[in-house]
Amino acid sequence: MGFPTIRPRRVRDNALLRDLVRETTLSVGDLVYPLFVVPGRGVAKPVSSMPGVSQLSVDRAVEEAREVRRLGIAGVILFGIPAHKDAVGSGAYDPEGVIAEAVRAIRESVPDLLVVTDVCLCEYTDHGHCGVIHERTVDNDRTLELLAREAVCHARAGAHVIAPSDMMDGRVQAIRRALDAEGFAHLPILSYAAKYASGFYGPFREAAESAPQFGDRRGYQMDPGNGEEAMREIALDLEEGADMIMVKPALPYLDVLRRAKDRFPGVPMAAYNVSGEYAMLRAAAERGWIDGDRVTLEILTSIRRAGADFILTYSAKDAARLLGR
Ligand code: PBG
Repeated sequence: MGFPTIRPRRVRDNALLRDLVRETTLSVGDLVYPLFVVPGRGVAKPVSSMPGVSQLSVDRAVEEAREVRRLGIAGVILFGIPAHKDAVGSGAYDPEGVIAEAVRAIRESVPDLLVVTDVCLCEYTDHGHCGVIHERTVDNDRTLELLAREAVCHARAGAHVIAPSDMMDGRVQAIRRALDAEGFAHLPILSYAAKYASGFYGPFREAAESAPQFGDRRGYQMDPGNGEEAMREIALDLEEGADMIMVKPALPYLDVLRRAKDRFPGVPMAAYNVSGEYAMLRAAAERGWIDGDRVTLEILTSIRRAGADFILTYSAKDAARLLGR
């Protein structure tokens, strides 16, 4: 039996029926919105390569968090730009630092919003690498100690989820142990398990002022040619105690997302639709080369279809508008 008995268009021709049979859903509750927090008050400094995104001081970040919640978006992920950077990224684990302050303020003013913190050193080090440097390379094991301190600092401030993005070996274990020892055994870890050394982070590095001052991140982030290695990274992070895993970037790695979803059924999975993906979309839309609204929803739907349970995206507010909130 085939055509003409079988006609797939029958369920496509009616909009209501189309909705009924859609396999993948997208809702604002699946989205997490990134915020860049800077020192000061009343600061909202636009990031030129990311239209609509600004560096915000804590007071303005609280306002933005309130708006994000009003739109129905599930949560925010916070990135901090400290007043001073140094070789060991002290700002990252300063209990009076921007992130600790932002977490406390958002938790207090917007209690029903999920607050995720990115744990990494690159925004806090003067050399821009994700760990401490020894002989021009990142010293993995000394970095673990600092990442653990940073995670505990965020936990004490009230973070709901700790998200390490540094790609050091053993960081999930180090962070899990430190959190448990400090009374935060209940706090979940969302590990950036498969994070690629990607050109798509360019605009983020402007937003977070975190471009490496020498070399690049290929010594710790993953090679774009590798898919099986991502499965190994994910398996290791799960063994070390990760509760949720992330693939990043999203669009160039949809196959990795799908592979991970099939290989690790039941493990909650996130995708980071990163700065360069957003910049590309917005730049083409601005020129009228693509329909930005339509492509925004298509991109987010494709990431969900590939297997992501939730998505970290700069398009979250646009998506909320488009999904009718
Ligand atoms: C920190 C970090 C980065 C991103 C998230 N966490 C940048 C990097 O690794 O250089 C990128 C996010 C984006 O591009 O939107 N290590």
